[in-house]
Amino acid sequence: MPTVLETTTSSLLAPTLQAAAIRRKEQHAADVIIIGAGILGSALAVTLARQGRSVILLEKSLEEPDRIVGELLQPGGVQALEELGLRDCLNDIDAIPVYGYEVSYYKTPVHIPYPANAAKEGRKPEGRSFHHGRFVQKLRTAAMREDNVTVIESKATELVRNQYTGQILGVKCITAGQPDYYFGALTVVADGYGSVFRKEFSTRAPLVRSKFYGLELIDTKLPRPSHGHVVLSENAPVLLYQIGTRETRILVDIPEGTPSATHANGGAKGHLAKVVLPSLPVGVQKSFQEALENGKLRSMPNSWLPPTTNKTPGVMLLGDALNMRHPLTGGGMTAALNDVVLIRNLLAQEMVPDLNDTSKVLAQLKRFHWQRKGLTSVINILAQALYSLFAADDYQLQALQLGCFRYFQLGGNCVDGPVGLLAGIIRRPFVLFYHFFAVALYGMWLYIVQSPLWKLPLTMIQCVSIFWKACVVIFPFIFSELQA
Ligand SMILES: Cc1cc2nc3c(=O)[nH]c(=O)nc-3n(C[C@H](O)[C@H](O)[C@H](O)COP(=O)(O)OP(=O)(O)OC[C@H]3O[C@@H](n4cnc5c(N)ncnc54)[C@H](O)[C@@H]3O)c2cc1C
Ligand SMILES: *[C@@H]1O[C@H](CO)[C@@H](O)[C@H](O)[C@H]1NC(C)=O
Repeated sequence: MPTVLETTTSSLLAPTLQAAAIRRKEQHAADVIIIGAGILGSALAVTLARQGRSVILLEKSLEEPDRIVGELLQPGGVQALEELGLRDCLNDIDAIPVYGYEVSYYKTPVHIPYPANAAKEGRKPEGRSFHHGRFVQKLRTAAMREDNVTVIESKATELVRNQYTGQILGVKCITAGQPDYYFGALTVVADGYGSVFRKEFSTRAPLVRSKFYGLELIDTKLPRPSHGHVVLSENAPVLLYQIGTRETRILVDIPEGTPSATHANGGAKGHLAKVVLPSLPVGVQKSFQEALENGKLRSMPNSWLPPTTNKTPGVMLLGDALNMRHPLTGGGMTAALNDVVLIRNLLAQEMVPDLNDTSKVLAQLKRFHWQRKGLTSVINILAQALYSLFAADDYQLQALQLGCFRYFQLGGNCVDGPVGLLAGIIRRPFVLFYHFFAVALYGMWLYIVQSPLWKLPLTMIQCVSIFWKACVVIFPFIFSELQA
């Protein structure tokens, strides 16, 4: 027997709804089949159901996830939740309000609050940080409460394709050890970063240059509570943020090939103890050491995957299955939830009355690919460019890193602009372009000023090299966003 979870008793439903519910449970057929009840899949199931679509949501494990990902939701993601009528999923999970960031550069801090001038209806922008699993369970519960959704614990193994037209018709699964099939007009692949179905539709594979190592710190003292912290030093960046009243997450980036993290040097644990510990804020060091000794050290790859347009009838890739960026800026969930808002508008009954009309669906997905750029190209490019600067390992990048920090110290628009982009509030790629090159020029200026005058000819050559590096950092990511 498949595990079918539904909170509403079918006798309360109107006859047509009851028919759709029976069709889902007995014939395993619906308008939309969603693979993966993570951030994206669960929010999308609720949203499409509220538009009158019949939805089957498949998830390989309905137990509360225990992961080190998706723990800080930017204000732009909170806004998207609100727009989807899902804001209450942030209640009762011991979520912590986030008012901005503190970036420390070789122990000198700078405060980067979310821009107050972006207040909507008198409310300042706020993010939320929490235990990922608790938030996901809230979203799943919201999906289970919808009359038009059936949530089933089942592992998708293979997409079912029409051999003549190539159209995706549904998915083969394993439910409670038994093979099983589900069919829909539209199958949504939302199975996350390790998507097994992605490669059927795109030749691009995720690029991984580093991993985040995560620990949970108990009763630690952050320099600025209710803020994300970024620690910059001669090492790759470290992130810290509260995920509960007593718990704080630390994520330490370790690039591939870091000499102090080789096996001979004690691996990642050796690197964390010897190199990272002394670079942390003093109030954090004791709990970090305790977590290192007794806690569960876990790692996740930090992937880059530019989005591709969906061209296969009957299927739609979304979330991490479609597009990923470095998690330094905490943009993944904000991108996913805003994509749900766009899909809601583009696939509404008024736009596409019948999802079996695959050419209409594909035309809308093409519009989706370009409409999401306003927000997601900003999130994607910013994450990658900022990571390059924050993990600086040559003099050009170090000059840009210093330029970036000193730019933040100028305050005003030099903070409001960049943090507005990061928060998912400013959705204009040109603003990112402008601030990035302002940082590059400022970094070059600082480099000239701190070099002795007699070295000026060499300094000028080095400045050209710094500028060239800035271009090399950002243009490949810009170009990747311009592709279909
Ligand atoms: C280290 C790290 C830290 C991060 N921190 C943040 C952050 O602070 N803020 C932020 O916004 N983003 C963050 N992200 C990114 C964020 O986690 C993702 O963008 C987000 O979770 C994507 O949602 P999703 O629904 O696409 O995938 P997921 O949330 O991963 O959901 C996928 C779901 O599919 C299910 N599934 C997988 N395979 C199958 C199958 N075969 N059959 C059925 N079900 C299946 C999984 O069990 C899972 O429930 C981070 C990422 C990493 C790597
Ligand atoms: C469920 O779908 C029907 C149409 O099939 C729609 O009339 C109804 O409003 C939907 N239910 C909810 C709770 O949105």
